[in-house]
Amino acid sequence: MDLVQKIKKNKFKVGIIGLGYVGLPLALEFSIKNIQVIGFDLDAGKVRKINKEKKSYIKHIPSEKIKKEVNRKTFLATTDFSRIKETDAVIICVPTPLNANREPDLSYVLNSTEEIAKYMRKGQLISLESTTYPGTTDEDILRILEKTGLKVGKDFWLCFSPEREDPNNPHYSTSTIPKVVGGVTEKCTMIGKMIYSKVIDTVVTVSSARAAEATKLLENIYRSINIALVNELKTVFDRMDIDIWEVISAASTKPFGFTPFYPGPGLGGHCIPIDPFYLTWKAREFEISTKFIELAGEVNTSMPYYVVEKVMHAFNKNFKHINGAKILILGLAYKKDIDDIRESPSLKLIELLQDRGAIVDYNDDYVTEIPKLRKYKFNKKSTKITKSNLSKYDLVLLSTDHTYYDYEFILRNSRIIVDTRNAFGKFKSSKIFKA
Ligand SMILES: NC(=O)c1ccc[n+]([C@@H]2O[C@H](COP(=O)([O-])OP(=O)(O)OC[C@H]3O[C@@H](n4cnc5c(N)ncnc54)[C@H](O)[C@@H]3O)[C@@H](O)[C@H]2O)c1
Repeated sequence: MDLVQKIKKNKFKVGIIGLGYVGLPLALEFSIKNIQVIGFDLDAGKVRKINKEKKSYIKHIPSEKIKKEVNRKTFLATTDFSRIKETDAVIICVPTPLNANREPDLSYVLNSTEEIAKYMRKGQLISLESTTYPGTTDEDILRILEKTGLKVGKDFWLCFSPEREDPNNPHYSTSTIPKVVGGVTEKCTMIGKMIYSKVIDTVVTVSSARAAEATKLLENIYRSINIALVNELKTVFDRMDIDIWEVISAASTKPFGFTPFYPGPGLGGHCIPIDPFYLTWKAREFEISTKFIELAGEVNTSMPYYVVEKVMHAFNKNFKHINGAKILILGLAYKKDIDDIRESPSLKLIELLQDRGAIVDYNDDYVTEIPKLRKYKFNKKSTKITKSNLSKYDLVLLSTDHTYYDYEFILRNSRIIVDTRNAFGKFKSSKIFKA
């Protein structure tokens, strides 16, 4: 039976490489629809959690969901890549970070492609979901896969389909977010669409893998630039004694031509601070510079420094200084109600405040201790928010506005508050300083 027939009869097996924030929910989605899934990961700990403990390691994915699918035997995880042979479609969901020189680090994608090449056979579809620059699929990946002697569009199918996961968004899940697919050949696109349509309500096709890669970059560059714009306007309006939050709220009443973006302590997460620079790097090959991207990066990167200036200003107003002061940062995750601290500006804030002599603690119920990170080695555990704990701090810095915070309680029991998210917006108090 060829792949098209297998898909039509729901008799195909999916392999997902990389069981992280993107790969795990996607694997579960296929499994829920009664499609056999094998999840591949290098991390034996994650594989054990799924197969043996049947537990989740991502806050917004309930363990129950994993348990149900593993028990039904439609989903299993493995570190044994030879099982790629058993699958009909292989979807790559591995990290695409920047290296120390802020250049694309494609090593995870290339290593997993090498693994696929070792075990691939005729008739399989390979789909890349990791965010990357245009050309990754039809140049870098294709080169590795065709070294096997198999030919794309004839022996196997290859496409790019960007992930649009928005962790913890109550309105959208993996299956209800429309998905873009672009193949290396027309038939690759067609087969990619058929597979994704089994689990995604709306699949949108584009003419090539490159167009699909570029689509994802446009989406994330759009966000990075618009966030930079409001971050810059925040600093300008602040000097003019105008509240940016009030202005955004008023502008949002315009029913067309305006989409609100909100300022904050800086960009965070695995995507928006990183992805735009994949295009910057690739554009150099075409002798073109990406000025908007660089400028947005500069503005967003300067935000934690702006916040620290505001902290110093708040101390000054209270006849205190930062050196030796005790500061409690609220929220370590890069956005509210999640447990992801990758590129979180809160980490940069800890570093900058400590550099200036402050003694810094943090609270985040979703991140009970700070793991060892590539960039930072903080040995800290989350501090509970109690009346007596709050009274120990000279200043409370709200970095991430988790829903569980009782702002009224925090305001009542804190001495000075610096608020980067307008979380205390509805209160009038000389204790509050917006940053
Ligand atoms: N997290 C998001 O919300 C999000 C949204 C859209 C796009 N993306 C993109 O999706 C991709 C994956 O991101 P993520 O957040 O899921 O990353 P993640 O770090 O949560 O998960 C990646 C997983 O891949 C595994 N891995 C690494 N190398 C491997 C290999 N060679 N073989 C098998 N497994 C390997 C890791 O152990 C890890 O479990 C990235 O390109 C990212 O930019 C992420």
